[in-house]
Amino acid sequence: MTSELIIKDLHVSVNDGEKAVLKGVNLTIRQGEVHALMGPNGSGKSTLSNAIMGHPHYTVTSGDILLDGESILELEPNERARLGLFLAFQYPVAVPGVSMANFLRTAVSNVRGYTDQAPPSNGSSQQKTIGSNLMPMRDFRKELLEKMDEFNVDRSFAKRYLNEGFSGGEKKRAEILQMAMLQPKFAIMDETDSGLDIDALRVVSDGVNKLAGPGLGILLITHYQRVLNYVQPNFVHVFFDGRIVMSGGAELAHQLETQGYQWVKDEFGETELVKA
Ligand SMILES: Nc1ncnc2c1ncn2[C@@H]1O[C@H](COP(=O)(O)OP(=O)(O)O)[C@@H](O)[C@H]1O
Ligand SMILES: [Mg+2]
Repeated sequence: MTSELIIKDLHVSVNDGEKAVLKGVNLTIRQGEVHALMGPNGSGKSTLSNAIMGHPHYTVTSGDILLDGESILELEPNERARLGLFLAFQYPVAVPGVSMANFLRTAVSNVRGYTDQAPPSNGSSQQKTIGSNLMPMRDFRKELLEKMDEFNVDRSFAKRYLNEGFSGGEKKRAEILQMAMLQPKFAIMDETDSGLDIDALRVVSDGVNKLAGPGLGILLITHYQRVLNYVQPNFVHVFFDGRIVMSGGAELAHQLETQGYQWVKDEFGETELVKA
């Protein structure tokens, strides 16, 4: 069965409900589809991705998010991940002391249900207890190395501390590797506000093109049209002032490239539009 992620008249506020950011978002993504969401800075794109993943600072005030007909609003982020949602964070935080490999092993173990298994109770060493509800190291390592080779990620990367001193391109490589390991049904990828440099752009587009297929639905969020020169979306949505104001095919992205967002502003009203 093809899975469906449905965002239904979603209203989201921030700052303990003081500021309404999303004002009725409607969007359906099916496995196998690539959707691009484009809009000016401050229009609420990252708020949408945070709300989909259940970030605690974002309050859904009305509407719903349904995965195969079931609301996910009451689920914790890790539970959403287990249902097959993946969010590539816009600003990945540096986590000192956690290697890429350890981080990935924990994430994969959560998504694949290893963390449900109770650790053995009969007096084993602490080391064993810690490892007992994770994917076995041998299997994990084998799979990780395979994926690193497949996605052209240098093997030394596994030992690096998470995001510590990662370049923009390396952060994106880490995200793609994570996606390759977790094999989500839906991936929400939020480009950084400053855009991607050419290295990062290639990493993202090559990765997305390799990962795209019938099992994966992608929501590619971007301010800039550039990434869409390398990734061909099935649908393009123009996002403005907390909602989707227009949807179309790839041609819409080119219209935004040549005309900018001013015409969107002219057509859809006066708000605090931050100019690119
Ligand atoms: N955690 C937050 N706390 C306060 N305001 C926020 C928060 N997240 C987003 N906002 C506000 O919501 C609006 C939309 O922001 P954002 O979703 O980041 O837009 P975009 O990703 O399109 O640039 C902005 O006015 C921003 O200041
Ligand atoms: Mg953003």
